[in-house]
Amino acid sequence: MTVLAIYNQKGGVGKTAATVNLAYLAAEEGKRTLLWDLDPQGAAGFYFQAASTVKNEAKKILTNEMDLAQSIQESGYENLDLIASDISARNADVILSELKQGKRRLKAALTPFKNEYDVVILDCPPGLSILHDHIFAAADWVLIPNIPTTLSMRSFDAVVQHFGDSNIDPNKIRAFFSMVDHRKNLHHEVLNGHHRNKTFLKNYIPYLSDVEKMGTQLAPVATYAYSSYAAQCFRDLWKEIKKVTQL
Ligand SMILES: Nc1ncnc2c1ncn2[C@@H]1O[C@H](COP(=O)(O)OP(=O)(O)OP(=O)(O)O)[C@@H](O)[C@H]1O
Ligand SMILES: [Mg+2]
Repeated sequence: MTVLAIYNQKGGVGKTAATVNLAYLAAEEGKRTLLWDLDPQGAAGFYFQAASTVKNEAKKILTNEMDLAQSIQESGYENLDLIASDISARNADVILSELKQGKRRLKAALTPFKNEYDVVILDCPPGLSILHDHIFAAADWVLIPNIPTTLSMRSFDAVVQHFGDSNIDPNKIRAFFSMVDHRKNLHHEVLNGHHRNKTFLKNYIPYLSDVEKMGTQLAPVATYAYSSYAAQCFRDLWKEIKKVTQL
């Protein structure tokens, strides 16, 4: 089982879009895949038209009042299961800080499934809090989508610094560019400036209306726009992620 966290300190950078599409592609090629939505906004679940089935489910998972197995749902796609989120996850920090399990609550919750899934993909809320330290401990790889702007890169550097300060292995980090707008010079400059940076993957996700349409289609891009450029970009990115993570 390989755990991939799709994370950025910043919001609205394409984390959920990447999570949903990469999880779908993993499952499509036969990998037993679990998508765990950790964001109280519940957007990843929404794209699969799934919601928590028990009141305060997300909170109960974190406190171990509810077994993770009980919260796993079928996504409607072969090989792809998911854990939906809900607003009760908004206090995840407080909940986790009261637990005496170090930073390993999520890791401990996933351990019983290590022979059941090939890939677990975590859709992370934005921020850099106690919840995120649990995420970083559980993840084999932390994949960071970045919009190529100066402020984005600043925030990315702060995350790398946090890994160093907190003794988290920075080799877990891989970044990729997302929502790249070819009409913007700054996007080109930032992209070119990171060309030789080995932490950054070569493939990126452009700003494309076929990705935006996920909001109305409520499905991964490849299901409604199979031959589109957007679907191809996610396939190329997934291929590179598999190579890097030896999946
Ligand atoms: N490559 C893209 N091209 C066009 N629109 C995109 C792209 N990626 C994401 N979007 C749109 O941008 C918005 C934010 O994307 P998304 O929800 O994936 O970001 P996020 O990082 O998960 O946000 P949050 O921090 O709120 O969880 C959504 O409306 C989504 O449809
Ligand atoms: Mg999101």
